Amino acid sequence: MSDHSQQAAPSQDALKQQVADRAIEHIRPHLESSTILGIGTGSTTNLFIDALAKFKGHFDGAVASSDVSAKRLQQHGIPVYDLNAVGQVPFYIDGADEVTPHLTMTKGGGAALTREKILATCASHFICLVDESKQVDVLGGFPIPIEVIPMARSYVAREIVKRGGDPVYRQGVTTDNGNVILDVYGWVIEDPEALEAELNQLTGQVTNGLFAKRRADTLIVAGSSGIETYSAPKDV
Ligand code: 5RP
Repeated sequence: MSDHSQQAAPSQDALKQQVADRAIEHIRPHLESSTILGIGTGSTTNLFIDALAKFKGHFDGAVASSDVSAKRLQQHGIPVYDLNAVGQVPFYIDGADEVTPHLTMTKGGGAALTREKILATCASHFICLVDESKQVDVLGGFPIPIEVIPMARSYVAREIVKRGGDPVYRQGVTTDNGNVILDVYGWVIEDPEALEAELNQLTGQVTNGLFAKRRADTLIVAGSSGIETYSAPKDV
């Protein structure tokens, strides 16, 4: 007879679904007929979009951080707006590739980092959704994506090498903005805000995937022992 007393740990996909569902519970009380949400990009956000579609009559629409997310929203019948027509959004909901206890993040695994950072910056509240595999103490295990103007690729790569990073050109990827991505390996990032600011000074760099100046306000994490919600510490 088999032993059913030990349950298998939920898969990463199941955890992503759980965190998406919890985010819906979190956001639902704030939805009004005039609400326009900022919506990110990635597999976790896709699950959030699909869950959000059940409430599409409860809010106005969304601004998307990628063409892929815009299409998914529209396929659900959710109106998609240009950020320029909207200004500030009350909430931005998105996943991350790594997130620290300070709610600083690495993003851009899906190459949407520039529009993600713009939307996060224009959001009153940024809700980050992850499964527990994304939690780290120090950023850098996941390579830092950098969106670069194509003709500056080699220059920016050389500047990164001078700073101890190992840049790898993401072959075959063109961003929604017509640029390319360098993924930087080998950095152990003790001060993400300082590195983000330094990278912002590199000519030809469009955006880096460090979200430290604009970190998440709320982090929802689904793990094998349940779902936890964290707020950004005030002292950082
Ligand atoms: C896309 C992103 C995503 O939020 C990040 O890559 C996480 O994706 P997923 O939810 O598929 O794990 O930054 O540019």
